[in-house]
Amino acid sequence: MDICVIGAGYVGLTTSAVLAEFGHNIYCVDNHSEKIQRLQNGIVPIYEPQLNEILHKHKERVTFTTSLPESIHQSSVIFVTVGTPSLADGGTDLSFLSSVFTTLAEQLQDYKTIIIKSTIPLGTNKKMHDYLLEKGVSPSFFNIVSNPEFLREGTAIQDMFYPDRTVIGIAEDDNRSEVILKEIYQSINAPFIVTSWNSAELIKYAANAFLATKISFINEMSRICDVYDADIMEVSNGLGTDQRIGPLFLQAGIGYGGSCFPKDLQALQHSATNKLVNTPILDAVQAINATQLDFYINKLQETLPSFPNKKVTVLGIAFKPHTDDIRHSPAIALIHYLHALGADVHAYDPKAFLPAELRHKVTQHKTIKSAYLDSEAIIIATEWPEICQLDWMDVKTHLKGNIVLDGRNCINKEAVRKAGLIYKGVGRG
Ligand code: UDX
Repeated sequence: MDICVIGAGYVGLTTSAVLAEFGHNIYCVDNHSEKIQRLQNGIVPIYEPQLNEILHKHKERVTFTTSLPESIHQSSVIFVTVGTPSLADGGTDLSFLSSVFTTLAEQLQDYKTIIIKSTIPLGTNKKMHDYLLEKGVSPSFFNIVSNPEFLREGTAIQDMFYPDRTVIGIAEDDNRSEVILKEIYQSINAPFIVTSWNSAELIKYAANAFLATKISFINEMSRICDVYDADIMEVSNGLGTDQRIGPLFLQAGIGYGGSCFPKDLQALQHSATNKLVNTPILDAVQAINATQLDFYINKLQETLPSFPNKKVTVLGIAFKPHTDDIRHSPAIALIHYLHALGADVHAYDPKAFLPAELRHKVTQHKTIKSAYLDSEAIIIATEWPEICQLDWMDVKTHLKGNIVLDGRNCINKEAVRKAGLIYKGVGRG
């Protein structure tokens, strides 16, 4: 099939790579000409495991271009994967999506299946459908399908090859799209869940809200663990073996970040509030996440009461391992916090870089060893394997102080203690 993917961001590039691997011809379009030029030269602007390799392998099959009209005409299927950032009031900025639909309204001349992958507020698929009709596009020229993505950064390619399910939201009178989507995704072995547009939109938001709820729940439990000298790792394990609960997303830490959870929870809350529906669970989930870092810093201050001019090392900058993404990263918030307390902050991450506003305040190191050399305390903010597997006996010989704060509960506390260091995790007593 000839497929146009609009938006060469994280979702668009992953979708392009995997669809190319399935044998489709891809026109990946973005209006950011510098980015397209780099992609044409084989430079992938984000770090995502396997992405570079797959795009390189299929370079004959993936055309990177800035020409949207041409790509629309050459394709029978159009994936919309543009960004939908948050607005200050918690709503969603749909300007990229609107601009795509303005072009679609001008260009549609024969039948296309338009598949919206971007996460969009409830009711938006219908709005886009009605917009095309208002602009005089014949209903026989298009169907709109809501096909939300559930890709996790760091494992996006694997998640797209092996999803738990494929959700498609279609219009009541649409009897073409399901067959077309099954053809596009024929290499995927996962159940198809066919719903209305609004249900598909809500499945996406509800999934992220539920996962964030599990995280905030376990973080709340970690606070209780701390005051009762229980270990949240044991509690998570005991809790997660109940099949009704499941073991995933029960890892306590310094809170969730990234481009999706914070934005999607706000957007869902905004959609609900617009219709006068209260969301006490969503409120609580966000409130716990917003205070989890303060909670942890307070503990840190008990251990290391005075910060000024002390070298403190933060390991991890990305919002989670296997990505260079720092959007809403708790590690960044932690670094700001430590800097404000007067600490001499040194940071290390295998892939991510400090944002511009921190570069002159904090030293980012190229090696993990130089980051912790002569440090008073190490604080783990992202659980990269390289960080989790540190040899604590060796680390101890290079430290000035003796404190290890494990903000992700990812290291062996016994090994740290055996090395003669003080270990503090999140909810570990
Ligand atoms: C998420 C969803 O998982 C994905 O389905 C959706 O489409 C996009 O948003 P992503 O943001 O890439 O994916 O990362 P995810 O693995 O879900 O982690 C999000 C945040 O939660 C990270 O900051 C992570 O460190 C944190 N987290 C995750 C925890 O604190 N504890 C856990 O148990 C799991």
